[in-house]
Amino acid sequence: MQNTPLAEGPSVQRCLRCARELDELDARPQCPYCSGLLELRHTLPKERGAALADRFRSSASASGVWRFGPLVLPNGADAAVSWPEGNTPLISRKAVAAWAGVSALRIKHEGMNPTGSFKDRGMTVGVTQAVRVGATAVACASTGNTSASMAAYAALAEIPALVLVPLGKVALGKLTQSLAYGARTLLVRGDFDDCLRLVRESAEELGAYLLNSINPYRIEGQKTIVFEMLEQLGWEAPDWIALPAGNLGNTAAFGKALREAMELGLITKVPRLLAVQSDGAAPFAMSFRESFRVRHTVRANTIATAINIGAPASYQRAVQSIRETNGVVTSVSDGNIMEAKAIIDAAGVGCEPASAASVAGVKQMVLAGTISPDESVVCVLTGHVLKDPEALDRYHRGTEPPPAHANRPIEIDASLSAVADVMRTLRPT
Ligand code: F0G
Repeated sequence: MQNTPLAEGPSVQRCLRCARELDELDARPQCPYCSGLLELRHTLPKERGAALADRFRSSASASGVWRFGPLVLPNGADAAVSWPEGNTPLISRKAVAAWAGVSALRIKHEGMNPTGSFKDRGMTVGVTQAVRVGATAVACASTGNTSASMAAYAALAEIPALVLVPLGKVALGKLTQSLAYGARTLLVRGDFDDCLRLVRESAEELGAYLLNSINPYRIEGQKTIVFEMLEQLGWEAPDWIALPAGNLGNTAAFGKALREAMELGLITKVPRLLAVQSDGAAPFAMSFRESFRVRHTVRANTIATAINIGAPASYQRAVQSIRETNGVVTSVSDGNIMEAKAIIDAAGVGCEPASAASVAGVKQMVLAGTISPDESVVCVLTGHVLKDPEALDRYHRGTEPPPAHANRPIEIDASLSAVADVMRTLRPT
């Protein structure tokens, strides 16, 4: 772990490339001098270790983000735009652990957030900050979850929202959320990477506050996935934390959270991060294999639409996260993602396709001998099962021959004997 002390004094935004500092109320999305990504540095609480953990436990906040306010946005917590969010379950399911090949596997289900994904943790902070800087509109590019979350939180704050999503590449649950929550939604003829380029240009040109995860305030909120998980584990760090990786905001946030948790004496061991991409959208895994000598970009194509990203924006921050945690980046096939998802779904847990990459990645790493079956692992499930009903329908009803875990519905006549015929075939699971 890098051991630079965090800043003393009020919160500042610091450029990761040229180290220049901006005021915490500066609304520019990246370093105005060198275009580097910004990172927040707070005045941290005086308490350390158990005393700090006690303070979090006894917080009056109903939010799993704002409970950790002193590490997230110390000067903005009082006026938080909050649903509230977070406080998601950490669970164990034997069938999932057995499939992945690790006995001590736990699942942190971020799909249990108010809009059904982990994005709510970053968005409560991002929209709170939008209010603090007096934004008249907020904007984002998205594969669907960021936009669903931003639309909801912008509605809470009564700020107009502009969403740019790739036409035909966003799961139905997510696109319809954006419409329902009232965001002005643009279907861009292009991919996510085109949307991000366009929103970065237009936010600057049109004066909207940018809420993609290049926004450092989003990262602060997403750190709380790790804080909360560690708290649920009694501040005993697991050996590994596995997560799906797309635009790399979450990989960046997890690394920053672990750095701070170590520095504050909340944990004594750093878990290794396992960032998992899909084979069809794996630029970060390609760079990892070359020890990050080359920053790759690809034309992305995966069934896991949430992580269908070819030019991840938080690359620079995520490299730091992987290096500091002795982490690993890998990619798995769409087939393995859908198989992992079927196992997670059938265990009564459920998640969207991209989320299942974390579990598929763990299985692959166990088979490769990188993760030992007796190590402890937390897999983060990033989105809810209902986000992508089309993927479910295709898997269970629309694929010939049926995939291994397809659960075909059976059409019957309206008669007792027809029901009885089916009952006779039921087996205990
Ligand atoms: N899982 C889900 C369900 C996601 O929606 C995303 C990203 C990721 C994983 C990857 O996280 O980008 O921080 O590496 N979704 C973004 C969006 C890109 O627009 O909703 P990341």
